Parts: sequence; structure tokens; C-alpha cells
Amino acid sequence: MANPLPIPRFLYGTAWKKDETHSLVKTAILQGFRGIDTACQPKHYNEPQVGNAIAEVTQNHNIPRSELFIQTKFTSLDGQDPLRIPYDKHATLEEQVTQSFNVSLKNLKVSYIDSLVLHSPMRTLEDTLRVWRVLEGFKQQNKVHYLGISNAYNLRFLQQLYQQVSVKPSFIQNRFYRETGWDRDIRSWAKEVNIKYQSFWTLTGNPNVLASPVIARIAKARECSPEQVMYKVLIQTGIVPLNGTKNVTHMKEDLAILQWENWSDEEIDAVLALVGGK
Ligand SMILES: NC(=O)c1ccc[n+]([C@@H]2O[C@H](COP(=O)([O-])OP(=O)(O)OC[C@H]3O[C@@H](n4cnc5c(N)ncnc54)[C@H](OP(=O)(O)O)[C@@H]3O)[C@@H](O)[C@H]2O)c1
Repeated sequence: MANPLPIPRFLYGTAWKKDETHSLVKTAILQGFRGIDTACQPKHYNEPQVGNAIAEVTQNHNIPRSELFIQTKFTSLDGQDPLRIPYDKHATLEEQVTQSFNVSLKNLKVSYIDSLVLHSPMRTLEDTLRVWRVLEGFKQQNKVHYLGISNAYNLRFLQQLYQQVSVKPSFIQNRFYRETGWDRDIRSWAKEVNIKYQSFWTLTGNPNVLASPVIARIAKARECSPEQVMYKVLIQTGIVPLNGTKNVTHMKEDLAILQWENWSDEEIDAVLALVGGK
């Protein structure tokens, strides 16, 4: 397994791209994305096509696999389409996790995964811990660098999980929107214990924020789009947004942010105040 990569500041999201997945992931990597988020969940993700795109860029475009940060997920039966479950639903939970992981390695055509995320907490903490022990085993076998958890909106649950596992989560991947107060408490705790917060619905879940006069003022002054303002502020704050664009111009505009100098505290704080604060 190659050494762990620095955590990418942006992740390209591959959900809902169906048969366009191969060409969009390839385009995203060629444009400059180096972090890719997918899942072993055929209902929403075409993981084999993500693998085809990775194979194409590594074989034909001189981009070594070791420079790509590949993140996939174990999705429990609750999150799967009953007609397209990628593992044996009658197997033990531990066996389901192992089968899913092996399917991901095969789909993605890689020998290790940079980040493996539990797509949602299980129904009980006990079952979540059962899954986590299997994930820890992959890490001990040098098949995974980082573990993460997604759709976890209960701080107390996250703290209990954190205390009871030996390989701590490196990521929390959550919906970033008003209904949860933009996870302010979770984000603040995550910072303390060195967990990176990955946001999804960053744009789609925040139409009012994107339309706010504060963002319009900054976008005008910086000669950029409200979407770029949102991403820039979050990235400068240490959040890792998932970006699911299908549009090459948006890819270029969003990646350009990574080259920009730091913005002023005044600009950062003004936008953060719209999304629950720091
Ligand atoms: N863990 C989970 O349960 C979970 C759930 C949902 C999503 N995710 C992950 O998050 C990824 C992103 O999904 P999301 O729902 O959060 O989507 P998103 O990236 O917030 O929204 C993408 C939408 O915003 C539009 N957009 C407008 N301007 C843009 C700009 N400058 N840059 C980028 N997009 C712009 C896009 O349109 P254009 O295509 O026209 O640019 C697209 O319709 C998914 O692919 C998936 O990997 C994870």
C-alpha cells in the first residue's frame, strides 16, 4: 500500500451519474480532482464505472494510482435496493462488510482504499461496533488508510463510537444544511479530536445561503460565483466539500479556488455566520 496521501481539500462525488460515471470521473480527474468519493451501493453509485475511469487515467494519462485518494463506503442492507444488494444478505453482518469491501476492490480495480466510510450508523451502537471491528481489520491488513462514518448526526453517538474503537474515525461525512444547524456542535467536537468534516448537499441543501446578500457582496467583490464563495470559505475553514458537478466549467471554476490566497477573517466569518458559525 502506498503511503497515506494528504487529505484532499475537495472530493469529487460520483452519485447519480449512472452511465455517465466513467466519462465524468475521468474528466474530473483530468481537470485536477484527486479525491474521489463513491460507494458499494448500486442504487445510487456506479462503482464499476468509477473503477473504469481510474483504470483509464492511470493507464493512459500518466496519473499514478498512488496520487488518487479513493474513498468508498459500506452500505448496510437498510440503504440498499433489495433487488441489487452487492453482497449476500443472509450472511453475517461481518461477512457482509467483508464481501462489500472485496466487491469495491474489484469494482475499483485497486489493491487498497484510501478511505472506507460506513455509509450510515447501524440501527444500534452494538451493530455499528460490529461493523467497525471489521473495518479496523482492513486497516490492520494494510488495505485501508482511513476510516470514516457518514450520516451521523448525533454527537453523543459519535463520541461513544470514538471512545470504544481503536482505529478512530478520520472523517465524518454529513449533509450540510440548516435542519441540523450545519452540524455546528459535531464540527466543533470533530476539530478537537482531529476528525475532518466532509460536507455533502453543500450547494443543493443551501439555496437561501447561496442567495444571501452577504454572499452576493463577496462574490461581486471577488469577481466569482456564489458557489465559489461557499466552497472557498468552507475549504479555508478546513471542511472537505463533496462536489458532484457534471459541468466542466464548474469543475474548472471550483478547482481554481484551491490556488487562491487565503481570504480575510471578515469574509470568512461573514459567510460562516450564515451556516451555523465556525
Ligand atoms: N454520504 C451520503 O449519504 C451522501 C449523500 C449525498 C451525496 N453524497 C456524495 O456527495 C456528492 C455530491 O452530492 P451533493 O448532493 O452534495 O451535490 P452538490 O455538489 O451539492 O450539488 C451539485 C449541484 O450543484 C450544481 N452546481 C451549480 N454550480 C456549481 C458549481 N460551481 N460547482 C458544483 N456544482 C454546481 C450542480 O450542477 P452542475 O452539474 O450543472 O454543475 C449540481 O446540480 C455525491 O456525488 C456523493 O458522492 C453522499
